[in-house]
Parts: sequence; structure tokens; C-alpha cells
Amino acid sequence: MKKAIVTGASSGIGQAIALDLAGAGYSVVASGRDTERLDALAGTQAGIFPLAADLATEDGCRRLVEDAMAQLGSLDLLVNNAGIYRRGSAAETSEDDWQATLAINLDAPFRLSRDCLPFLLKTRGAIINIASDWGLQAGKRAAAYCASKGGLVLLTRAMAMDHAHQGVRINAVCPGDVDTPMLVEDGARDGMSHAAALAHCNAESPTGRVTHPEEVAALVRFLASEEARQVTGAAIPIDGGNTA
Ligand SMILES: NC(=O)c1ccc[n+]([C@@H]2O[C@H](COP(=O)([O-])OP(=O)(O)OC[C@H]3O[C@@H](n4cnc5c(N)ncnc54)[C@H](O)[C@@H]3O)[C@@H](O)[C@H]2O)c1
Repeated sequence: MKKAIVTGASSGIGQAIALDLAGAGYSVVASGRDTERLDALAGTQAGIFPLAADLATEDGCRRLVEDAMAQLGSLDLLVNNAGIYRRGSAAETSEDDWQATLAINLDAPFRLSRDCLPFLLKTRGAIINIASDWGLQAGKRAAAYCASKGGLVLLTRAMAMDHAHQGVRINAVCPGDVDTPMLVEDGARDGMSHAAALAHCNAESPTGRVTHPEEVAALVRFLASEEARQVTGAAIPIDGGNTA
């Protein structure tokens, strides 16, 4: 049985990935901060093991890997999905927002990848980083977010190059707008309801709609599979053609 760690699994894309992988037969450590939601998730699907963790610090990241490995015993897949979005141009970005964004979106994937690598080398496993289309091109008033996701894309490529010969594959998935709490919270900052935020994002997408979390999960499952054995160092947009 394959074993995976998914971060940010208490909501949105991470929750869909945890459910999808467990449905496909993985044992999944679902990590997040909201223990109630993680317990509820574990109750809906066999094979999901909730593990509370705050990934803002090196210590929190190290503890997650230790606890997850105590639960799983071996590891085939790490999905770095946890992320935050603080809106602002560079001029509008406080030191706190910059540090918080980099800590979750870039430092945590680096630390978790580094600490999981010894286990992934044993199984010739994989790392999948949930970046963003804003890791490939700029978005307005998102300086810290773009910097963190652009950094994550290049961390993915650098690690892929270093570890390809050892059989560990590292890829990034770059979603455009996805219908999750993150999109709702961003719309709310402009006084938009969920429906209004969704309609706005749908209208901006070349395909006429946002991406669903389950579609991101399906791409993650493919990248983790044997069928993708020659795919490494890729940053794959899943954005309805937004970056075409
Ligand atoms: N929703 C979108 O439109 C969109 C688009 C592109 C990329 N993404 C990326 O997808 C990923 C998932 O986002 P989502 O849309 O599901 O949003 P979300 O807000 O539902 O999920 C983010 C998750 O990250 C976790 N998280 C945040 N800070 C944390 C911390 N300190 N420690 C541990 N966990 C923490 C949250 O608990 C949450 O579970 C993020 O990396 C995000 O940047 C989202």
C-alpha cells in the first residue's frame, strides 16, 4: 500500500487530494490546523489519518514529518499543498505579511521536502508542490504570493534535477482560480458574496469557469502514478488556459 502526506488537508484543494488519494488506496496523513475538520474528513473516508500541525516554523515542519513517519512507517508521496494568500503590491505588503507568506508557501515545502527526502529515496517516491499560475506569471497586488509561488516552482525544478538520478520525482501543479475557501476569502475582501466572487472568476477564465478541487486532485494522482514515471521538474498549469 502506498503512503502519502498531504498538507493543508482540512479544506479546499488539500482535502480533495487527501480524499482522492485515499480513495485510490493510499494511506494518507492529512495534516492541517483545524483538528475538528481533519477528524470529520477522516470519518468520511478510510485510509485518512489526521495530524494537526502548524507549518509556520522549522520545528512544526520537523514534528509533522516525525509524527507522520511514526504513523506510516514508509513514504511514497509528499504533497506540499498548505498555502496562504495575503493581497498587496510590494508597497502595500507589511513585513509580517511577507514573512508569513514566505514561511508557509516556500519555507515549509523546502523543509518538509528536505526532511522527507531520506524516506522518499528508499521508495523512489515523489514530491508534488501545489504552486499557482501566479508562480508562472504575475498577478496584480500579489507581490509576496507571486514571489513565494515563483520560488516554489524553481525549488521544484532544482530538486528535480538533483534527485532524478536517484529515482525521486518532483513536480509542481499550478492551478488558476479554484473554488475553495481561499477564493471565497479573497472575494469577501472586496465585499463580494461567494456567488459573486465565483461569477467574477468564471468570467475571467478562457474556459468560462474556475477549476474544481477534484480536477487538481486528479492531476496530482496522475503525477504520483507510474504512468508519470518520466515526468519530473515539470510545472503544469491547470487553469482553463489562463496562462496559454
Ligand atoms: N484557490 C485558488 O484559487 C488557488 C489557486 C492557485 C493555487 N492555490 C494554492 O492551492 C493551495 C491550497 O489552497 P486552497 O485554495 O485549497 O485554500 P484553503 O485556504 O482552503 O487551504 C489552504 C490550507 O493551508 C493550510 N495552512 C495555512 N497556513 C498554515 C499553517 N501555518 N500551518 C499549516 N497549514 C496551514 C490551511 O489550514 C488550509 O488547509 C495553496 O497552496 C494555494 O496557494 C489556490
